[in-house]
Amino acid sequence: MTRVVRTRAELREALAGAPRPVGLVPTMGWLHEGHRSLMKRARREDATTVVTIFVNPRQFGEVADFTRYPRNEARDIAICESESVDFVWAPPVDEVYVPGFDTVVSVGRVAMPLEGAARPGHFDGVATVVAILFGLVGAEHAYFGQKDAQQVMVIRRMALDLALPTEVIACPTVREADGLALSSRNVHLSAEERAAAPVLHRALVAARSRSESGERSGEALRTEMRRVLAEERLANVDYVSCADALTLSELDHIVGPCLLSLAVRFGPTRLIDNELLE
Ligand code: PAJ
Repeated sequence: MTRVVRTRAELREALAGAPRPVGLVPTMGWLHEGHRSLMKRARREDATTVVTIFVNPRQFGEVADFTRYPRNEARDIAICESESVDFVWAPPVDEVYVPGFDTVVSVGRVAMPLEGAARPGHFDGVATVVAILFGLVGAEHAYFGQKDAQQVMVIRRMALDLALPTEVIACPTVREADGLALSSRNVHLSAEERAAAPVLHRALVAARSRSESGERSGEALRTEMRRVLAEERLANVDYVSCADALTLSELDHIVGPCLLSLAVRFGPTRLIDNELLE
């Protein structure tokens, strides 16, 4: 049985006697197979699983994006039940940001490029809410999707720097059969845009295959991604990146692990994806 809790106090009380280890899966709801894969992993590795559902206003740049974010709590809870999640924490805003709340957790360099540059303040919002969740849940493990690769890096950095005892575990990106990474935002795509969206993955695969054939120039891989994306009329490129997998600085010459990533707009909907080259 999944128990849904709303307040900080209820959550603390629910977890007080819970079997350890505890696994935490933070989400903003509108759950899909990507989220399910994180829950399954937590079920496998932890004695108690906690899913949080909270559309975090502080990580959205534009109010419109926050308002537009899809929500369906009843369906989300049913999904958590079907994955045998023990506790769902679905709090109102003032249980997360208590009255007088006045703290920002701001991660430095790794939060600056890519999504950080495209969405000012976004990672402050993410790091702040995740620090609160880590504090409240006190989990041994927290599971995040590699789909948001920079987010994982930012949260790892934060947990390490602030000596938070929760271990951050990254899980593989779950994709549709045509390669499109699952995302709550996919629901906003028109039929035509949905048909065009797999171009993100095609661009990454094309660049990866160039790299596997021995290409060591970062610019050549970025150019390859831009070339594939340009074939799709509906795709408006925000950025393409071939960056050092530890620092996220753009690479001229690839020597170690590198992260290929991109952000592309289809009408008002912005999609991201990435591929790690080990
Ligand atoms: P949300 O977008 O709901 O994603 C919750 C978790 O699911 C994140 O760790 C995300 O990387 C993961 N995820 C999303 N799509 C995935 C996919 N296709 N395959 C695998 N994992 C996937 O990310 C957030 O919420 C928020 O920023 C949050 C961390 C909850 C803080 O508010």
